[in-house]
Parts: sequence; structure tokens; C-alpha cells
Amino acid sequence: MKRKDILGIKDLSKSEVNEILSTANTMRDMLDRNERGTSLNGKSVATLFYENSTRTRNSFESAAKKLGAATMSISVAASSVQKGESLVDTGKTLDALKTDFIIIRHPVAGSPRLLAETVKASVINAGDGMNEHPSQAFLDALTATRHFGSLAEKKVVIVGDIKHSRVARSDVLLFGMLGASVTVCGPYTLLPEGIDSLGCEVETDFDRALDGANMVIPLRLQLERMDQAFFSSREEYHEYYGVNEKRLKACADDFIVMHPGPINRGAEIAGDVADGAFSVIEEQVTNGVAVRMAMLQLLATSGEI
Ligand code: CP
Repeated sequence: MKRKDILGIKDLSKSEVNEILSTANTMRDMLDRNERGTSLNGKSVATLFYENSTRTRNSFESAAKKLGAATMSISVAASSVQKGESLVDTGKTLDALKTDFIIIRHPVAGSPRLLAETVKASVINAGDGMNEHPSQAFLDALTATRHFGSLAEKKVVIVGDIKHSRVARSDVLLFGMLGASVTVCGPYTLLPEGIDSLGCEVETDFDRALDGANMVIPLRLQLERMDQAFFSSREEYHEYYGVNEKRLKACADDFIVMHPGPINRGAEIAGDVADGAFSVIEEQVTNGVAVRMAMLQLLATSGEI
């Protein structure tokens, strides 16, 4: 791979996608053997999160440390951002601190690209507004390929709050590149106009969407991005769009349930499904470390930083 930054699936070629997945597969085997790498020895990785995170921030930091890097976690709430410092000025400061990688999460779509154009450090997008979340899509794809092998002809159903979801956008693009068919499903109000142009089917009836599905990915209602209520209650939402045991009978013989987290039990997913035999949610979290190790290593060895 020859690039400085990873900002979205839409920038990546098929060969880059395959290289990231194949390296992540190797990293996952390393994690299972409890081995560490040295490809980031002497490098520094900063996580700069303007939104909350449990999985993404911690798995980037874990990935960096397992490859030998030093990590720096910038808490925006306790930083000079609170004194009015701009994103670009924060980026320049991190460059001056000789930071090699900046992992950024920001509520405004496009912020990682602006930062990447300004700083010398490699920038990885850890989720920007309603735009993209590329490392999440790669960990979903790694989990799926480790289960199914090839994804050609496999059916993915992403259900829930598609409108506000950067995971949905990155997943549609990546699963499509890997040959899967993708259906996005939700109430009309949570299906953004033009989403089909990314290469997916659009469905409002969840039971119809589930017919023959191999992968089901429920999404959380992103209340923090909503300026109005879309459902009167968690129970009503679950009745129409919640993943539960009964509904999953419509899936193909071989299927898995994924979720990017955090999960809201009883809303988009029933608790017994989240903890059940078809759930690979914890596997996704471990694969998240492997994918982020792969991204960091490939950028570190790309000759572009
Ligand atoms: N999936 C995901 O991005 O989780 P966090 O918000 O906990 O990082």
C-alpha cells in the first residue's frame, strides 16, 4: 500500500482492501498466539477523539502498543480545544510533537480529510459525523470472511438508523467491493435519499429483508444526531425493526449476527440474540484490534510517512 492516510472506504482500491484484510488476518492469528510485533517501534500514535468511544479508541491504542508504538490519548474535554483551538492548529501541534499517526473521531463529516491535508502525520478516520467509519467496516468484513471465506453471493442486511450511520455507509461500500449483496432496511424516515447509489437494495419491511440473509447488522438509534423523535417507544421500534430469535428464522441456514456496538438491548437487538449462538459481537471486538494493527503497519511501511 502506498498512501499516507486512511480516510474512507471510498478512497481505497480493491487491491488495497485485499491487502488490509489479508494483513489483518495475519494479525488476528498473532493475537491468538499472544505475539507482539515491532513494525511501529519508535513511532508515536495519538488518538484525538471529539466524540465518545469505548471500542475504537481502546482498540487503536491496543493495536499501536502491540506493534511497539508509544501512544498519546488526547481528551478533547481536557485539551486546549476547550479554549477555542481549531482542529488545524491542534493538528499542527501534534506534528510539532513529532506524532507519526493521528487517529481522529469528529462529529463533522470531512474533518479527518481536512486534518490529513494539513499535517505531516498519517491520519486514520475513526468515524466522522454521518460519513464513514472505515476501520469498523474492515473489522466487520474480517469477521465475515473468517466465518464464510468468500463473501461472493452472500447477503448482508443492515437494519435500523441508516440515515445517521457512518458504519452503514462504510459497510455498504466495503461489502459491495467484496462481492456481497447488501440490503439496508429501516423506516422511511431513517433511510437517507440516494443511499441506493452506494450499491445497495433498500427495504422498509424487515421480515422481507431478512429472507435468505447470511449477515444481519442491527444499528443503534443515534439519538445524539436526531433533532426529532422517530419512534414513540423502544418497544415499538423493537416490534418493527428489532432483531429477535423469531425473526431470524427467515435467514439462510448459515448466518451470523454482528453489531458495531454499543448495543441497546431490547431496542435494535434482543438480549438473548446478542448473547446467543449466532452472535459474533465479541469476535468483532477482537478483530477490531487486528484490523487496526494492519492499518497502522501498512501505513508505517508504505514509505509515505
Ligand atoms: N463501533 C464503535 O465505533 O464503537 P465506539 O463508539 O465504542 O468506538
